[in-house]
Amino acid sequence: MRIPESTLSEIRSRIDIAEVIAEHVTLQRRGGRYWGLCPFHQEKSASFTVTPDKGVYYCFGCHKGGTVFDFVMEIEKVPWRDAVEILAKKAGIEIPQEDEEQGGIKRGTFFELYRRVAGSFHWLLTEGAAAESARRYLAGRGLQKEAIEAFQLGYAPFDRDWLFQFLAQKSYSQEFLSKTGLFIESTGGSSSALFANRIMFPISNARGEIIAFGGRALGDSQPKYLNSPETAFFRKRENLFGIDKAAPAIRGEGFFVLVEGYMDVLALHQAGIANCIAPLGTALTEQQVRLLKRYAGKAVVLFDGDDAGQNATSRAIEMLEKEDLIVQVVELPGGQDPADFIQKEEVGALKDFLARPGESFPYLMRKAVAAHDRSSTEGKEGIRDQLFPFIAAPASQMRRDRYLTLLADELDADQGALRQDFSAWSSRRRVPGPRAGQGTSWGSPAERGAPGEGRAYETRTLAHGESGAVSSDLFLMLAVAANRDLFPLVRNGGVTLADIDDEKARALFVALEESFRAEDTGFEALCARIDDAAVRDLAIRKVSSGEFDMNQERLVADGVRKIRQRALVKRIDAVAVEMRKAERESRDSPRVRELLVEKMHLDSELEKLKTRAAGV
Ligand code: CTP
Ligand code: MN
Repeated sequence: MRIPESTLSEIRSRIDIAEVIAEHVTLQRRGGRYWGLCPFHQEKSASFTVTPDKGVYYCFGCHKGGTVFDFVMEIEKVPWRDAVEILAKKAGIEIPQEDEEQGGIKRGTFFELYRRVAGSFHWLLTEGAAAESARRYLAGRGLQKEAIEAFQLGYAPFDRDWLFQFLAQKSYSQEFLSKTGLFIESTGGSSSALFANRIMFPISNARGEIIAFGGRALGDSQPKYLNSPETAFFRKRENLFGIDKAAPAIRGEGFFVLVEGYMDVLALHQAGIANCIAPLGTALTEQQVRLLKRYAGKAVVLFDGDDAGQNATSRAIEMLEKEDLIVQVVELPGGQDPADFIQKEEVGALKDFLARPGESFPYLMRKAVAAHDRSSTEGKEGIRDQLFPFIAAPASQMRRDRYLTLLADELDADQGALRQDFSAWSSRRRVPGPRAGQGTSWGSPAERGAPGEGRAYETRTLAHGESGAVSSDLFLMLAVAANRDLFPLVRNGGVTLADIDDEKARALFVALEESFRAEDTGFEALCARIDDAAVRDLAIRKVSSGEFDMNQERLVADGVRKIRQRALVKRIDAVAVEMRKAERESRDSPRVRELLVEKMHLDSELEKLKTRAAGV
């Protein structure tokens, strides 16, 4: 559902960014901006700024910055849309509720359907006569009413025709229903339910909207779990079981407990360990890790104690460390899964394990050592090769260095030799793609997602590496971006897009021009028009630095003159070249005279510019 630009600009005009931020940060006014302790990183002296008249914040310590929408996204850990909604509410503005279509189905209709179906399944489980054995099964697994309620577990009836009839009554079309992932085939005007005689686990997105189901067989029938297929609103790789319920606890605890199964999530929640989530029947993906990273920077992996669980643990560690999370591991004894463990042992025993998790790399080393004969050189090489992908995973050079030290000690190997092997291995591996992670004896981790996916969740850390490398064109455009009412100086000064060489400056010029034509006001609205994220970030940083707060007019006038001068010189050169060419054909043609007049005109323009520059 697209939010109209007019709504966004109304929100911008009614919301005071300093007021919003002051709810989270104690701000002190100094000069034209506010300063405070950055809420996004630990610091003792204030490097976090809010520039109210520009509507942006920026931290000179951790380089996070943006508009009020970015701030709400970051602080509340919500996607862009939710941030807009939160601010609209604050501003008392209604967002037009036009139902967005995706893959031919409407968002609102889809969510309403899933809510309805989940509600019916839940009713059937808790009240229906046919669900007696399902209820008994869950009781046998130690699940209590509260957890069943909290997760809205349900029961899909034996009869595969029931769901379609039930929904057709509510006047959903068959065409729509066929796209919801709830049905398998249609036979002459009716559709057969995908789930039958299963315990239903609703799967919600981070906003708590139900988007799919996992259906568990009662007892041992196969397949044990059946999951909804992907639909327009459900992508396995981007969602996590339990995330909506776990999010506050993850934020509060500062870490999350990653388990393998739906049952484990339920059992842990019931045991009071609420910061717990599971992937959706696949290996942990990069998108899932990025989503989690928005809530906490630390993970405890608590997978099943069997071989499959232990192998999956290694892959999960690699995935998590690639995104620079701190990872710890709990190994359960006797091949049990957390749900069984809680039921057999008792909650306290699990909490004891969770209180003393092991570090990720020593865990991986133990596994590798166990799989080889450490007394032989070959064995050592095997261990080394098994561990290299994990050493390569973290982006932090320091962490990699520590892992290499640990491994050299473990193998009684020479530090230098091991490090040489590692660089040789790294450069060999770099051929098919950076940090591709192949060569693990546990198989390669799940493929990486397409770039840009899950963008809404990405942490906004501004590019800041290129300071100093600002061209004079870009400098001018940044000064104008910071003082938008000076744009007419640029336009009326005769600067056109063709006169600007620097790519980034061009991007800013285009945004300024568009903004000027659309007559929108304010720096934030301009930001929204800058397509190049790096340029946008640079503009935010410069505006926050205050370096364009003084002498702006002079800065801009100088910049315009420089560009005009350069453009004139270029044009004069071109005219001179053309004149020589024309003269070779005929000394006194009308064309030669024309060019001469132009050159004289250009020369005098240039002269004027120069004297004006010298005069000011
Ligand atoms: N899974 C799946 N399809 C299967 C088996 C498993 O999608 N055929 C996924 C489910 O998400 C499941 C997870 O893998 O939750 C872990 O599997 P398992 O440990 O077998 O399931 P549990 O949830 O632990 O269920 P239970 O304790 O009842 O065995
Ligand atoms: Mn399990």
